Amino acid sequence: MAATKLTLSSKSPESFNSDLLIYCLEQDKKEKVKVGQTPATKELKAAIALGDFKGKASDSLLIYPSNSGKQKPYAGRILILGVGKSHDMPLSDLREQCRKTGGIIAAKAGKLKAEKICLCLPSVNEMKGEEVVECLVEGILLGDYSFLKYKKEDSKKPSFGGIKEIVVSATGSHKGLRRSMNKAEHSAFAARAARDMANEPGNGWTPGSFASYARNLAAKHKMKCTILGKNDMKRLKMGGILAVNQGSAEPPKMVILEYRSLKKKAETILIVGKGLTFDSGGVSLKPAAGMQDMKYDMCGGAAALSAMRVVGEEKPHVNVVAIIPATDNMGGSSALKPGDIIRHYGGITSEIVNTDAEGRLILADALAYGIKKFAPTCVVDLATLTGAVILGLGHHRTGLLGNNQTLVDRLLVAGENCGEPLWQLPLDKEYVKQIDSDVADIKNTGGRPAGTITAAAYLQKFVGDTPWSHMDIAGTAWDFTKKSYIPKGPSGTGVRTLVDLIRNWKRFS
Ligand code: BES
Ligand code: MN
Ligand code: ZN
Repeated sequence: MAATKLTLSSKSPESFNSDLLIYCLEQDKKEKVKVGQTPATKELKAAIALGDFKGKASDSLLIYPSNSGKQKPYAGRILILGVGKSHDMPLSDLREQCRKTGGIIAAKAGKLKAEKICLCLPSVNEMKGEEVVECLVEGILLGDYSFLKYKKEDSKKPSFGGIKEIVVSATGSHKGLRRSMNKAEHSAFAARAARDMANEPGNGWTPGSFASYARNLAAKHKMKCTILGKNDMKRLKMGGILAVNQGSAEPPKMVILEYRSLKKKAETILIVGKGLTFDSGGVSLKPAAGMQDMKYDMCGGAAALSAMRVVGEEKPHVNVVAIIPATDNMGGSSALKPGDIIRHYGGITSEIVNTDAEGRLILADALAYGIKKFAPTCVVDLATLTGAVILGLGHHRTGLLGNNQTLVDRLLVAGENCGEPLWQLPLDKEYVKQIDSDVADIKNTGGRPAGTITAAAYLQKFVGDTPWSHMDIAGTAWDFTKKSYIPKGPSGTGVRTLVDLIRNWKRFS
């Protein structure tokens, strides 16, 4: 999809010649619409009188001004949207409401094939204009998404190529508003990039694709990119990723992208994302039904790399390093077998009980290596790690575990702020016993009970005392709770949580 031009203007909304002119109206304390100033007051009042428009969230009214193009309002269509109540609501809910309104705007624009839209910046209770515009624009850009790369263009029914221009009409100082629009643009396009990666099939997005994407980012934003190939992994004794890759014709890559802040003594955040480009289960083969979904098993890596795009664009005051262990997980005569014992980077041995518990094997090497190499202040990993997290939390909340409550709390806040809610699960030492092995230091599954927790317990063995959090996004990376700004399929979850964490970073130690 082409880029969208974002413009900010102090001219009155009626003076823009757009395909769609949008007004968002909130309700007052008595749930009555605040009619305000629109060029369609008459029509709006008539609709209100008939009970057709109450200003509830998702209420909408489409009006066709009779003299459009010739006199004000110049727009071809006017869309009036309700945003609902906004009283006594926490800021995070108000932000979510604005993003959802943005998603509805995108859907309407898509239906009407409106390429140029003009938005009159609404007032939403006590929210700052900067916050309103950030969330509205983010919602529009996140909602305005499609993946048509592999579809033939139908000349009779041309598909909508996305919104080309958004004009925000607002009075007052534009400095803060402009900043907010830039933030929205960065985070939404990053999340969309993660969705694109996830939508690519296993033969379209390989470990090599992660490597090229990272190299390009590094070149564009002056970051350092290192790609470890199979020989480097052998030299470094990364037995986990090598084991998972054993059955594959596609070479593995450990993709490392480093951003260094100009600030002296900056802290370092390490992000590790599971980049499993296709998970067949290996010798412990998955059932055929639904196996095609396992192309999404790289969403952790996609989130990590996409967040780095924003890091490159915004240059935060904290160092950020991303590591993506990338391979697919295939069967075959050279593949890893149940019963095999492997040795991870750093020396810990692991008994393979199930080759389908492969994510933890590649993450273990990446975590241990990243911590050794970069001595980070903290580590966050993201992975579509367990089916069990879907049983526990469904498709709404990402599972969150960790060894440091400060970091866990920061992620909970970040997720709440950006509409990617998380839920903390316990990690008591009692669970850790489930991965004790008779023949090796640990084994790679802990049985059915508490599958998400025992997977995290496995990872914990590789982080030592470094503050660490793990996000299990198996339930939220795709088929995320239906929301106007999140389409079916991959959601891009995790990207905006990471970005929020980084943007609001305060010294940790
Ligand atoms: N990639 C899967 C987890 C997964 C399952 C993600 C469903 C998305 C949807 C992971 O590699 C896996 O296969 N996990 C196993 C672990 C088990 C063998 C201990 C699982 O959850 O079944
Ligand atoms: Mn698996
Ligand atoms: Zn997997």
